[in-house]
Amino acid sequence: MEKSVTQICGILTSGGDAPGLNAAIRGVARTAMDVYGIKVIGIENGYRGLIEDDSRVLEPWEFSGILARGGTILGTSREKPFKDKNWQNDENGPGAVELIKKTYKKLNLDCLVVLGGNGTNTTGYLLSQEGLNIIGLPKTIDNDIAETDITFGFHTALTVATEAIDRLHSTASSHNRVMVIEVMGHKAGWLSLYSGVAGGGDVVLIPEIPYDIKKIAHHLEERVRSGKTFSIVVVAEGALSMEEAGLDKKAFKKARAEMSGSIGYRVAREIEEATGQEARVTVLGYLQRGGTPVAYDRVLASQFGTAAATMLAQGDYGKMVALQDNNIVGVPLELIAHRIKRVPLDHRMIATARAVGTCMGD
Ligand code: F6P
Repeated sequence: MEKSVTQICGILTSGGDAPGLNAAIRGVARTAMDVYGIKVIGIENGYRGLIEDDSRVLEPWEFSGILARGGTILGTSREKPFKDKNWQNDENGPGAVELIKKTYKKLNLDCLVVLGGNGTNTTGYLLSQEGLNIIGLPKTIDNDIAETDITFGFHTALTVATEAIDRLHSTASSHNRVMVIEVMGHKAGWLSLYSGVAGGGDVVLIPEIPYDIKKIAHHLEERVRSGKTFSIVVVAEGALSMEEAGLDKKAFKKARAEMSGSIGYRVAREIEEATGQEARVTVLGYLQRGGTPVAYDRVLASQFGTAAATMLAQGDYGKMVALQDNNIVGVPLELIAHRIKRVPLDHRMIATARAVGTCMGD
């Protein structure tokens, strides 16, 4: 492909940060600049930077030494321009989407590369419907983006969560306790399921499989009867009970608002009440998102980034870069927008967990 010195692309990172973002930015920008001669403009703090017209031309030196760095050199925000009414000064004011279109035009962009999760790629799709050229990249520790086998960030979070479970084993065993560890993942249980299998969780609770506390209690009591002195319970932050699964959205929200502490604390309380075993809670939180990306995420993010740059040089817009059956492909954004990739109930990891004796709460 010839160098197209006339092209200009914008790049932004949006939504919760994830390890590997900088490797992806580097992959896009270096390939775009060095291979295709495309000028790259970094937009600050996600879509908010486009609304506020906050950007800078990225220089080649900015990508040195960032592969191993967590977070994002561009900053991020959870700005949702299609929902956000704050930017509308009066009834006839421009609104966030109009401001984005204005900045896109002002910067003379040929394309905007958006690095983010479901919300980011959905916004990307909606902007492409407004006439902007968009290429998306799948980033999230939750691994819940449709049409891609894996997202970058997931493997780092998995490594952190697994190490945490490993560490909890020794203290659980010293004190003969039940250790509950709450792992991120509101709607999808990939992280809890994979870390639960990798760390040997005795109980793993994911949002896709509502739990029955009686089944959990039975499993934990059986462990004690068989001579096991401690147990590890991995809980996704979006885990829910069978009773809650029967509630409508409003009633569920109300029940959760009245809940004291996060789900990990509730599960620990329920276990203590049902079994009399002593339980302790660890909420892993943002440790899962921070810090150095593991090699897998750096490699995946670099491959996604270089593929995105090639797509933009070819004018192959309106797509998200994805990994499908070990191939890097471009998937139309309309297939990704407004969707979430949850763990299918017949997924082999659920079967694996059950086969090695893990209680899935049902
Ligand atoms: O990026 C996804 C995620 O990690 C979820 O698992 C979690 O619920 C959410 O982000 C929380 O992020 P924040 O507090 O930054 O909105």
